[in-house]
Amino acid sequence: MRILLCGANGKMGKVVYECASAFENADVVAGVDPYGENDKFPLYHSFDEVETEADVIIDFSHPAMLSSMLKYAIKKKIPVVVATTGIDEKGLQEIKNAAQEIPVFFTANMSLGVNLISELAKKAAAVLSPDFDIEIVEMHHNQKIDAPSGTALLLADEISSVLDNEPVYEFDRHSKRMKRSKNEIGISSVRGGTIVGEHEIIFAGTDEVIKISHSAYSKKLFANGAINAAKFIVNAKKNGLYSMKDVLEEA
Ligand SMILES: NC(=O)c1ccc[n+]([C@@H]2O[C@H](COP(=O)([O-])OP(=O)(O)OC[C@H]3O[C@@H](n4cnc5c(N)ncnc54)[C@H](O)[C@@H]3O)[C@@H](O)[C@H]2O)c1
Repeated sequence: MRILLCGANGKMGKVVYECASAFENADVVAGVDPYGENDKFPLYHSFDEVETEADVIIDFSHPAMLSSMLKYAIKKKIPVVVATTGIDEKGLQEIKNAAQEIPVFFTANMSLGVNLISELAKKAAAVLSPDFDIEIVEMHHNQKIDAPSGTALLLADEISSVLDNEPVYEFDRHSKRMKRSKNEIGISSVRGGTIVGEHEIIFAGTDEVIKISHSAYSKKLFANGAINAAKFIVNAKKNGLYSMKDVLEEA
């Protein structure tokens, strides 16, 4: 599997390169990144310049790369694994449109564990709502740009899907002086040091609290998840939008 790595010079790009060498039949053959240089493989500064043929694109970059990457993938008819977070509504629509023409794997969290706790949280919410208040706390390193994390939003969206009333997401209690409403999910972000990624879903009831949490100890978790996702969509071959749920179902 020849991988074209988008965001090749970023923290995750470097880890994907390292992890790919441990996989049988997976190689980073080139990278795309508007910034920096690289002596390990050909590096292009934009998708217009790419000359290396690949079987799949793995993207850990920035939402600004999304449009040109999808355009290139559609032109070359190659599947894409989009792991970049902080993508807005317009970008999400572009991903859905692209999935009609190529296989696209998109998830805010490439770890099987997070996708599993998402299922557990859905089960808990279905049983505990509306008596328990639901809060999500996420913690990441001090270099992360987007807040809350894409994973916190993914968890909130999954939980919302099983609630009778669509909840309001409360990101900022500071600007309001009022009690928490019943129909909300509070989402709080902590940023500091080198924390790889912590997510905790808190179900707070009367005299009892249930917590479901996941801790990532290394970025390799996400890199290996993305390479496995790439294998999955290269084999799936059919156009469409895929996520970790599809991998979990197959497991
Ligand atoms: N889905 C997941 O499981 C998962 C896991 C970890 C990180 N991520 C996401 O992957 C992305 C990359 O993470 P990272 O830690 O490698 O970040 P990083 O800042 O280290 O790397 C980002 C890369 O994108 C490039 N880039 C391209 N266009 C850019 C622009 N307009 N502005 C800034 N940089 C630009 C940078 O040059 C850099 O090489 C982030 O969105 C992050 O949230 C997702």
